[in-house]
Amino acid sequence: MADLFPVPAEFAKNALINEKTYQEWYDRSVKDPDGFWGEHGKRIDWIKPYTKVKNVSYSGDVSIKWYEDGTLNVAANCLDRHLEKRGDQTAIIWEGDDPNESKHVTYRELHEQVCRLSNAMEGLGVKKGDRVTIYLPMIVEAAVAMLACARVGAIHSIVFGGFSPDALAGRIQDCDSSLVITADEGLRGGRKVPLKANVDKALETCWSVKNVIVVKRTGGNIHMVTGRDSWYHDLTEKAAPTHKPAEMSAEDPLFILYTSGSTGKPKGVLHTTGGYLVYASMTHQYVFDYHEGDIYWCTADVGWVTGHSYIVYGPLANGAITLMFEGIPTYPDASRFWQVCDKHQVNIFYTAPTAIRSLMREGEELVKKTSRKSLRLLGSVGEPINPEAWLWYHRVVGDNRCPIVDTWWQTETGGILITPLAGATALKPGSATRPFFGVKPLMVDAEGKVLEGAVEGNLCLAEPGWPGQMRTIYGDHERFGQTYFSTYKGLYFTGDGARRDADGYYWITGRVDDVINVSGHRMGTAEVESALVAHPKVAEAAVVGYPHEIKGQGIYAYVTLIQGEEPSEDLRKELVAWVRKEIGPIASPDLIQWSPGLPKTRSGKIMRRILRKIAENDYGTLGDTSTLADPTVVDDLIDNRMNRG
Ligand code: PRX
Repeated sequence: MADLFPVPAEFAKNALINEKTYQEWYDRSVKDPDGFWGEHGKRIDWIKPYTKVKNVSYSGDVSIKWYEDGTLNVAANCLDRHLEKRGDQTAIIWEGDDPNESKHVTYRELHEQVCRLSNAMEGLGVKKGDRVTIYLPMIVEAAVAMLACARVGAIHSIVFGGFSPDALAGRIQDCDSSLVITADEGLRGGRKVPLKANVDKALETCWSVKNVIVVKRTGGNIHMVTGRDSWYHDLTEKAAPTHKPAEMSAEDPLFILYTSGSTGKPKGVLHTTGGYLVYASMTHQYVFDYHEGDIYWCTADVGWVTGHSYIVYGPLANGAITLMFEGIPTYPDASRFWQVCDKHQVNIFYTAPTAIRSLMREGEELVKKTSRKSLRLLGSVGEPINPEAWLWYHRVVGDNRCPIVDTWWQTETGGILITPLAGATALKPGSATRPFFGVKPLMVDAEGKVLEGAVEGNLCLAEPGWPGQMRTIYGDHERFGQTYFSTYKGLYFTGDGARRDADGYYWITGRVDDVINVSGHRMGTAEVESALVAHPKVAEAAVVGYPHEIKGQGIYAYVTLIQGEEPSEDLRKELVAWVRKEIGPIASPDLIQWSPGLPKTRSGKIMRRILRKIAENDYGTLGDTSTLADPTVVDDLIDNRMNRG
């Protein structure tokens, strides 16, 4: 029997949602989705109100539309509509990499910056529907750039600053961006990240880009290309401080965000305007129990979906105070998170299990020397949180006082789907608990049979769905249907496995496809494999995940060299550096095993199941290996398993 943490009475008193409201709202949301979402859609401002609410089909030529005849502007919802009531209230608290650097930006100031950049972008010829790639560090200008795109109706595609020039180029080419917004350099943990130099390198192969806007962050030495590159401060100083937001249809695209899948090429997940904003703002308010004036901090980077929905769009649509952190949890030392909580009196803190696990290793002292009295609610996202880390987070960070919301969702879902609501849900460490409003999880077996009761299976989601769901893969609607709706007809397949217990709580067990989750970052094994085989000395590679104490999963690569090449420590280092260059540091293999052969079926298909088991040091259940073309390959791989102890 798992530990059960009941809703704290103190918390329940002021909570926005209690058990009764949860049940009533949930039932209505799935029985009468039009009524429920028709009502909640009004939480944001519409230029032209919608008359249609839901128009969704998960079958045939999948089509997902919400509020389709309404019009609105996302930036106006995040800024203009707050000016009268809270123009002078802080919108963003920015905490620099250097602990001596921080600032507060009010809604009025943010509005002016966004208007200036919107005018500057239009001055460069950016129009509604154009794609703009944003490659910025965690500075206020990242939020300004997102909102300026939304304001003029351009579609932003943010590329995480840790991605390599090649990865950046691929993402620019896929959506034909005409503008890139970047900075001279980023700053993380005292180290500089050469963002502009990476952009220059990427643009050698990107013909669509006409302009680059460069924010001066470090003042480092960079090269500006005449006629193409301009300084952000020059452009915005010259631009007018007011701007009329574009009237967008609810189903006009808001952003593209590339994410890894089972195949080699990252997918451009497309989110649209109205439904996304309704869902991001609603989940932000209820999941984090956000009350007026609360200081809310999500530690993600805007390069990931968590940063989109829960640093920028959700909180700002709600007129919240959102903290944006440029640095890393361990700089200058491993108590930085808690120091920042004290410095800015943070009430709601949302981070990833990998950060918790790495800080847990540093010992309690570093946490205990800070007060953290301001904290009221804690959150977790990005990967399964092991009960040990959950209990530490609860006891040490939250002083046994703060409920933890373990929020399960995906880039594709736009917002949180399975989560406790702290005023309504008793918690079980390691369980994401129950579905949010409108979300209908189903457990399905390998044959597509829907399973009832307490079972383990593949996690699918049924119609009616929720308004924040992705609408398509940019430029490839067929792949959208194929990827998510063809495995189980009429259902959205998440790619995750899960268990449902007797209380109806969900326990996400991890990916069941060829995607691995490294420190909460999603990585396609095929992507790492294609980077490895692009190296001239590599004949073949197979990549799988394996349990890693801090990262959740580590990257385990089996590599076959071309004839005549010998394995060596130097070559191992060279291959790791090669993958970092091809994709970025987050894709670095943790372990490389030299494999003279890989286990293949007679038709030549690599048996990943076996490779996964070997990487997990689990040889007892390798299953049937008799169908392999050469079963002795497996014995050799086991004999040479890395770090075998
Ligand atoms: O496997 C699940 C895991 O992260 C995947 C989604 O990754 P991404 O699109 O990068 O989005 C991350 C931020 C939402 C999921 O398919 N995942 C995410 N949150 C959780 C989780 N696994 C278990 N528990 C979670 N709370």
